[in-house]
This record gives sequence, C-alpha cells and structure tokens, in this order.
Amino acid sequence: MSEILIERAGGVEVWTINGESRRNALSKAFMGEFDRQLARVSSGRDVRVVVLRGAGDKAFCAGADLKERVGMSEAEVRFFLAEVRRIFRAIEHSDTVFIAYVNGVALGGGTELALCCDLRVIDVKAEMGLTEVKLGIIPGAGGTQRLPRLIGVGPAKELILTGRRVGADEAVRLGLASRIGTQADAQALAEEIAKNAPIAVGLAKHAIDEGMAFDLDAALALEHRKYQHTLGTEDRLEGLRAFAEKRPPVYRGV
Ligand code: COA
Repeated sequence: MSEILIERAGGVEVWTINGESRRNALSKAFMGEFDRQLARVSSGRDVRVVVLRGAGDKAFCAGADLKERVGMSEAEVRFFLAEVRRIFRAIEHSDTVFIAYVNGVALGGGTELALCCDLRVIDVKAEMGLTEVKLGIIPGAGGTQRLPRLIGVGPAKELILTGRRVGADEAVRLGLASRIGTQADAQALAEEIAKNAPIAVGLAKHAIDEGMAFDLDAALALEHRKYQHTLGTEDRLEGLRAFAEKRPPVYRGV
C-alpha cells in the first residue's frame, strides 16, 4: 500500500496521507515515505507547491500513531521523534511551498505537521488542537515553538495548556489557519503561487521564516541578501520582458 497518494497537475502536487483507517496518524512507514517525497520535490524545481491532505473526510492527521507507539521501546520512541523533528524542519528548509489542507481533525502531531507548512487552509468542519498534555506529554515536534511564533504567546499558551481543539472559525480568527475553504480553494491557492517565479517564491519564503528569528536590522539585511540572489536570474529578466510585451510571464526557475 502506498503511504502517500500523489496527483500532479502542472507545478502542483496533491499528497494524500493514505491511512484513513488510523485517521492518517504518523506511522514510521508514512514518515519514511514522506521523507523520500520531500527530498524528491526539494531537489528539483518542477514541483512548486504541494497541497497536503488526509485520506477520507474525518481527519487530516490524528498525530502520533498511538497503536504503533505502544509496541515501541523508549529508545525507539526517542529515535522516531528525532526523525519526525528532522523531517518537519526539512519542510521549512525546502524551496517548495507546502499548503496544509486541513480536511478533518488535526491533533497533536497532525497540527504540528500543519504548522510546518507555509499556509493552512481549513475545511469548515475541521478542528485543530495540540492535545498532548491530555496524554501526559508535551508537543514534541515543534508545537510549543511554532505555535507562539505563528499566533502569539498568549493564544498559544491557552491552546497548549488546555489541550483544547478549535473549530475552523476560531482557527482563522487566531491566525492558525489563513482561511476556511475546500480542497478546490487550497488547490487554487497553490496554482496562484505556482505561476510565480519559483526562485523568488523560495527566497521570499526563507526570508520570512529566517527573518522572524532576527531583530529588524538583521532581518532587513537578510532580506537584502535574498533579494540580490534574484538579480542574476533569467526569471527576473523574463518578468520584465513579459511586462513590456503585455503577456503572462513563463518562469523556468533559472
Ligand atoms: N493512532 C493510531 N490509530 C488511531 C489514532 C492514532 N493517533 N487516532 C485514531 N486511530 C484509529 C482508532 O483507534 C480507530 O481504529 P479502530 O477502527 O481499529 O478502532 C480508527 O482510527 C478510527 O478512530 P475513531 O476514534 O473511531 O474515529 P473518529 O473519526 O470518531 O475520531 C479522532 C477520530 C482522531 C478524533 C479520534 O480517533 C482521536 O481522538 N484519536 C486520538 C488522537 C490523539 O490523541 N492523537 C495524539 C495526540 S498527541
């Protein structure tokens, strides 16, 4: 059985976590395949945006695979968690843009996976939550760090310390998701991004992410360095030519 179902349309791929019977929980086999697919898209320029969703309509991802976890030794759990943390960070390091289409519940590691993505579109019936404290643990795949950076310390503490799940309206109000939408909406957003110059999109993604860790002067210097990378690109010249010729640009990622 494929752990991830992949459909391609132009520069956009839709990845479906293929584990409906376990509510798309993060198994070892899934993480291994996710790591391979992430390396594939990150090493090329063809796939500009990935839309990630869960199989079925109940769950985006129910977090750690709790049934698999029961049979793992403490050493195995430590190793697996280190792998999850590495792979989640690689989403952020990738030049490819990731959109989480939260098509059902996203709990624990499921919400943490969505937080590593660049954008989150949530289905009107879906819910998100970092529920770990209810299980005697804390978010272990970046949740305590990425959530406050995204929505602020106060709201993040409220969600993490209560372990509460929020619906789509509240997720958008808090900034946890950028909008409520359908899969078609998520794909339309992906296509809008995929039309733009890929080197520029990747540099802009990293300028925002990396700059958030710096003070403003250092962040502005970082932006300037990223901007300079665009100056030597063929795509920048294509953008200028297309404007002058009143036609849509055709970007090749060079
Ligand atoms: N790991 C492994 N299996 C899981 C799972 C998980 N995290 N979450 C759900 N499943 C399995 C259930 O055990 C069940 O399997 P079964 O049919 O063999 O009994 C199947 O998925 C369906 O679960 P069910 O609870 O009947 O579905 P639901 O749609 O009513 O509810 C959830 C879905 C995700 C809300 C609910 O299953 C849940 O709360 N899961 C635990 C989530 C969690 O705590 N994650 C870890 C956070 S740290």
